[in-house]
Amino acid sequence: MSKKIALVTGAMGGIGTEISKFLARDGFIVVTNCLPGYPQKDEWLAKMKAEGFDFIAAEGDIASYESCTAMVKKVETEVGPIDVLVNNAGITRDGMFRKMDKGQWDAVIDVNLSGVFNVTHQVIGGMADRGWGRIINISSVNGIRGQAGQTNYAAAKAGELGFTKSLALEVAKKGVTVNAIAPGYIATEMVLAIKEEVRNQLIAQIPVGRAGKPEEIAGLVSYLASDIAGFMTGATLNINGGLHIY
Ligand code: CAA
Ligand code: NAP
Repeated sequence: MSKKIALVTGAMGGIGTEISKFLARDGFIVVTNCLPGYPQKDEWLAKMKAEGFDFIAAEGDIASYESCTAMVKKVETEVGPIDVLVNNAGITRDGMFRKMDKGQWDAVIDVNLSGVFNVTHQVIGGMADRGWGRIINISSVNGIRGQAGQTNYAAAKAGELGFTKSLALEVAKKGVTVNAIAPGYIATEMVLAIKEEVRNQLIAQIPVGRAGKPEEIAGLVSYLASDIAGFMTGATLNINGGLHIY
């Protein structure tokens, strides 16, 4: 049987790198998205190759529908149809709401919410027609519980959950599952960007006493992408060290 193809957006970041590695170990051909002209692309690919991973890079700006159309078309022509999509690319532009400007709002909504539409829309028809597919959306604990300083981010991440549930219902009979993971604070550049004092206060609130590791998210992506996960759809799965239990 030919290998299935997985596309991971924002694949060269902290969580994306681990997701890509887990899916490759599971036997997928993994296409790793990054922004057009991403300066560390070749270095990242070489590092991965040295570790034994042969990833195929796909440049595309997730915030742009046209860029995503071109990217997916190229992947389909040069690699093949996409069976698994991990909507992982994301950004923060934190600030208290009164001080948040329209640019901060738009940037986060464009990547974290519209970006999910922009890529998923390219692949969902093919998955449904072929009768098998997996959409895995990386949301956030802060899309569920809210977080001061993140009205933009929490709105986008909460929106992603509504998207997940609704699309799951639309494609449930077609062999395509749509699920979301809501990670808590995971040790990547995104969390390192928080001012140290604030970051330490946030991590001190986590019941397990530490930030999560990217591989702890990737392990769940691996399960959701598998055949055995075919009965799980529309779910939001929490991995947050006990920060928010409901
Ligand atoms: N709740 C309520 N009010 C708070 C607050 C909180 N948690 N933290 C600060 N404030 C209040 C202060 O008391 C102060 O009030 P006054 O003006 O009345 O004195 C005011 O907010 C300070 O506002 P500033 O705009 O001056 O704050 P700042 O510029 O120093 O910092 C911030 C604002 C950048 C948002 C900073 O608080 C911050 O980084 N917070 C953390 C946000 C966060 O958790 N981001 C997660 C990033 S990682 C990620 O997103 C991954 C994921 O999914 C988990
Ligand atoms: P990260 O290391 O900053 O990785 C994010 C990746 O997304 C980066 O490689 C970034 O590229 C890429 N990206 C940003 N904008 C893009 C765009 N327009 N098009 C294509 N790629 C783009 O952060 P991370 O922690 O791994 O985050 C991965 C996902 O997990 C995000 O959706 C995030 O919201 C979510 N999440 C993270 C945490 C956490 O605590 N770390 C918790 C919950 C959820 P550049 O580096 O070139 O900008």
